[in-house]
Order: sequence, then structure tokens, then C-alpha cells
Amino acid sequence: MIGQDIQKAADLLKKGDLVAIPTETVYGLAANALDTAAVARIFEAKDRPSFDPLIIHTDRIEKIKPFVKSIPEKLQVLIDAFSPGPLTILLEKEATIPDLVTAGLPTVAVRIPAHPMSKKLLESLDFPLAAPSANPFGYISPTRAKHVEDQLGDKVSYILDGGNCDFGVESTIVKLTENGSVQVLRKGGLSVEALEEVAGVVEVNDVSSSNPNAPGMLKSHYAPKTPIYVGEMNSAVKKLKGKRIAFIGFNMLNFSLPVEDQFLLSMNFDLKEAASNLFAVMRQLDKSKKYEVIVTDWFPEEGLGRAINDRLRRASSSF
Ligand code: TXA
Ligand code: MG
Repeated sequence: MIGQDIQKAADLLKKGDLVAIPTETVYGLAANALDTAAVARIFEAKDRPSFDPLIIHTDRIEKIKPFVKSIPEKLQVLIDAFSPGPLTILLEKEATIPDLVTAGLPTVAVRIPAHPMSKKLLESLDFPLAAPSANPFGYISPTRAKHVEDQLGDKVSYILDGGNCDFGVESTIVKLTENGSVQVLRKGGLSVEALEEVAGVVEVNDVSSSNPNAPGMLKSHYAPKTPIYVGEMNSAVKKLKGKRIAFIGFNMLNFSLPVEDQFLLSMNFDLKEAASNLFAVMRQLDKSKKYEVIVTDWFPEEGLGRAINDRLRRASSSF
């Protein structure tokens, strides 16, 4: 059921149920992070392999202190600058965080979402929420309550409807390396440029591995069902001759395809707006079943364009 009743969401979570929650990045599939049975239900609902760890969510970093060994100064600075917001940090965990949450890793991922509804919900709880994106494993993340209902509607007790997600790509995940520098493990809603303004030069982990412990995660991920080809349009059209093609573009139509088969992400040439529309458009194309292939070109490699390109790189890995 979809609704806006925060109290109801809190009550369900307290008794170990699953509730989908809105965040400013994507919708999350939430459960009490300290309740192993509830966390197990997340993995089951998503069909997610248990080696893929979850992010825990809270409204204040103070509430997480009992569950982690310490908060290194450099990460505290990032929390002060960017939380609440699309930032996730890795911290050494205490035994009080179930191993199921972290897939046996010594670290736990922590995030303070900025969405007013999830903020209010978290304020009313005395436990953190474990919440991966609320999609079946490997598929693109939901950015509307309806997306969650379509795919996991029968597996959650409640979907808290907070409207369209502002960012539309997942949070940026960072950790402190052994030599003390900040490393980006997954590019996301917080841009590398913004991070560097506060943290100085940061290392960026690009898609290269299929090792989920190096979480930018699996190489093939965030993928719609319709295959994606990323590259220059004219050569794509030649290569894909005879196929029914949909084009996802930034703000420019392409002359080699009918207008009705083209989907532009931001007429204002705004990368943030483009990111917030990307997953919804991919879903719409999957749902229409009209197309055999989606063609798109790389976005400018700056700001949220880097997170968009990262997702496109993963989504297109079957080509
Ligand atoms: O924006 C987001 O981050 C959303 C919203 C709901 O908060 N959540 C999200 O969760 O994208 P999920 O589970 O779909 O992606 C988080 C990724 C996992 O795939 C995992 O590989 C990585 O974060 N991760 C979590 N804990 C980790 C840890 N301790 N060490 C390394 N990677 C970790
Ligand atoms: Mg996910």
C-alpha cells in the first residue's frame, strides 16, 4: 500500500516489517538494521545475494556512535559539510551491527538522508534503518513510489510516498584509505568536484571489478531489461540496423531517428535534472516494450554527469 503516514511506517518498522522509504537519491527498502530477521527479509524481497552489504540510515551521526569504533576526523569533516545529503561513508563497525548487514565486512556504510519524510521517520526511531535501493537486485533504482509498487508491491508492508526523488542517482560512497586519503567507491549524487572542495584531491574508484567488496559494486548493474548501447548515434544506427531504437539524450534531438522515439533528460542542459530523470525514462522504455535497444551517448564527464556515465557504463556492459 502507498501512503504518506509516517507514524504507520514507524510502527511497521518497529515490528520488523519492510517499508519502502523516499530519500533524495532513490527509494530505499528499509528494515530495522539491528533486527537480523527483518534484515534477512530485505535480501529475500530483493533477491539480493547475501555478499552484498547494506547501507544504514540515521537522522544524526551521534545515534550511530554506539555502533562504530570511531569517526575519523577527515570523514567527520565530510559529514559536517554534506550530511544530511547524498553522501555515504564507511566506518569500522562494532559487533552490535549484525554481520548480515555488512556481509561480514569489518566496516558499515552510513548515510543521513535529507528527504524531509525519511528524516522525520528516522527521528522517531531509536534504531538505524538498513536500506538498499528498493528494486530487484541488478535492476535500476526506483525514483518514484510507483516504481517500487510495480516491482516489490507485494513484498513490502507499506510504501511511504515522498514524490519524485530529487537526485535520481544513488549516494556517493566514500571511505578513508589506509594512507588516510578519501576514496570514492561509488560515484553518486554528491559530485567529486564538491567533495574535492572540502577534502582536497580524492581518489576515484572506476568500474573495473566484479568484486562486490570493492563497492562501486558489480560491473553489470543498474541495468534496464532493454539492452543499452552507449556511443555516437550515427555509428550506433548503422550497427543496430533494423532494430527498434529508442534514443535517450541530454537536450538535443537526433536527426537519424523519429522524434517520438527520442527521450531528452534535460532541456535546460542541467546534469542534475538529467540524473533525476534517467532511471524513470529507462523504466518507461522497458515498460512500453516498444524498443529492442536503447541508444545513448556519454554525458559531459563533470558533476552529476560522472555518476550518469558510471551507471551507463554498467548498464551497457552486456554489449
Ligand atoms: O542512495 C543510496 O545510497 C540508496 C538510498 C536508499 O540510501 N541506497 C543504495 O543502497 O543505493 P544499495 O544497497 O543499493 O547500494 C549500496 C552499495 C552496496 O551495493 C554495497 O556494495 C555498498 O554500497 N556497501 C555497503 N556497505 C558496504 C561496506 N561496508 N563496504 C563496502 N561497500 C559497501
Ligand atoms: Mg542498489
